[in-house]
Amino acid sequence: MRIDILTVVPELLDSPLNESILKRAQNKGLVEIVVHNIRDYTYDKHHQVDDYPFGGEAGMVMKPEPVFRCIEALRSQRDYDEIIYTSPDGIRYDQHEANRLSTLENIIILCGHYKGLDYRIREHLVTREISIGDYVLTGGELAAAIITDSVVRIIPGAIGDEASALTDCFQDNLLAPPVYTRPAVFNGWEVPEVLLSGHAANIRKWQDEQSLERTRRLRPDLLEK
Ligand code: ADE
Repeated sequence: MRIDILTVVPELLDSPLNESILKRAQNKGLVEIVVHNIRDYTYDKHHQVDDYPFGGEAGMVMKPEPVFRCIEALRSQRDYDEIIYTSPDGIRYDQHEANRLSTLENIIILCGHYKGLDYRIREHLVTREISIGDYVLTGGELAAAIITDSVVRIIPGAIGDEASALTDCFQDNLLAPPVYTRPAVFNGWEVPEVLLSGHAANIRKWQDEQSLERTRRLRPDLLEK
């Protein structure tokens, strides 16, 4: 898989994309993540990526030309399955969408900034608009990092323990059951006995019950899906 991320603040993506599982997945050749500075696609002396909005509202708008040039340059090299724009008014991101994106070959993630993008980019280039929640971030970079992280970690081979991605929260619209490690007694608090029993079927049954109970109590909306 290849993920191209377009931004005016590439520094914001350095650390989230180059540590831990994402770093390992790239080193293993499971994914190629390339960050592009939109400013490199400006031709003017000041490398201007934004301008005042027509209509005179407050705030700046990202200019269409540099974004178009950058995307055209990428599209001349390969086909893209999805051109994603991160924006608070996009569809709400969830595990289902992460699973879908992880099956694609090449995607572009375009990070919004300032007041937003010139709408022509959204109309004519973007194929999917994604919000990571009902709140407004300074820019789309953190959203792009979240999308990339959640997509890459479920590519087969990215996580050491293959089964672990499949037992994540939300994979079946259920919250994950509680997990424990050694010591079996800490501060007088004991690990549930069934987990120490070595009886696989009983453990699985207990985990399923816990998942259901926690989902009912904490996220009943998931059970309606
Ligand atoms: N950019 C600013 N806020 C955002 C959000 N909530 N989701 C995605 N991109 C954003």
